Amino acid sequence: SVYPDPMKASLAVAQRIADLIKSKQAKGETTVLGLATGATPVRVYAELVRMHKEEGLSFKNVVTFNLDEYYPMQPDAVQSYVTFMKENLFNHIDIDPANVNIPDGTLDKDEIQAYCLDYERRISAYGGLDLQILGIGRTGHIGFNEPGSAPNSGTRLVTLDDLTRRDASFDFGGKENVPTKAITMGIGTIFKAREIILMAWNQKKAEIIKKAVEGEISSDVPATYLQLSANVEFVLDADAASEL
Ligand code: GLP
Repeated sequence: SVYPDPMKASLAVAQRIADLIKSKQAKGETTVLGLATGATPVRVYAELVRMHKEEGLSFKNVVTFNLDEYYPMQPDAVQSYVTFMKENLFNHIDIDPANVNIPDGTLDKDEIQAYCLDYERRISAYGGLDLQILGIGRTGHIGFNEPGSAPNSGTRLVTLDDLTRRDASFDFGGKENVPTKAITMGIGTIFKAREIILMAWNQKKAEIIKKAVEGEISSDVPATYLQLSANVEFVLDADAASEL
C-alpha cells in the first residue's frame, strides 16, 4: 500500500502491530515480532510507545527478535542496535527484557556459528515469527542480507557492502569506523515469518523500491526474493513509490 507520507504509513503499521498483539493477548497467546532498525521504523516505534502510555497497550506477552547487529559491537555503544532499540522502544514499554533478542555483537569469532543456529532455534521454539517488519538498504538488502545472499540463508555473519557502510558513516563519524561485518537473520529466516511488512520512505528509496518490486528476482537485489512470498506487503510513502 502507498500512503501520502511516512507518518500516515507508520501509524498504519503500528496499528497493525497493536491489533496483532491485542488479538493474540485475547487468546492468551504470545506475539513473536521480528524487528528492524534504521530510520525507517522509528515513527512506528514512537506510535507503539504512545499506544502503551496513552492506551495501555501491553507488551507483556510479546517476544521480539531483531534482524541484525553490527559485528563487532558492544551493546552499550551509541551505534549498537541494542542502544537503538532501547532508546526507540524497549525503555518505554513494559516488555520483559528476557523476551528481547538481538544478535550479540560481542562474541568470539569461533562462537558465532553456534550462536546463529541457536538464534534460529529460539525463534522456532516460540513457534516462529508472527510478523517481521523490514526496511530496505540502498543495496537492496533486507536485514543485512547484502547482494549475493542466498534465498535459503539462515542467521549468520556477513560482510557489509561498501554502499551500506557509506550510508552508515554519519552514525559512526566516518566510513572507516563502520564495522565491516554484521550478524543478520537470513533471507530464509525472514521468509518463515507468517507476515512480512517492508517499509520504505523518501525519494532516495524510490530506485531500489522499483527494483525490489518490479525487477527480476535475483541475489543481486536480495529484496526481490520478497516477490516470491504471498505474505509480504510493501508499505510505502508516495516518494518511495514514485518510480513504480
Ligand atoms: C540498515 C539496517 C536495515 C535497514 C537499512 C535501511 O542497514 N540493518 O535493517 O533496513 O539500514 O536503513 P534506513 O531505514 O535508515 O534507511
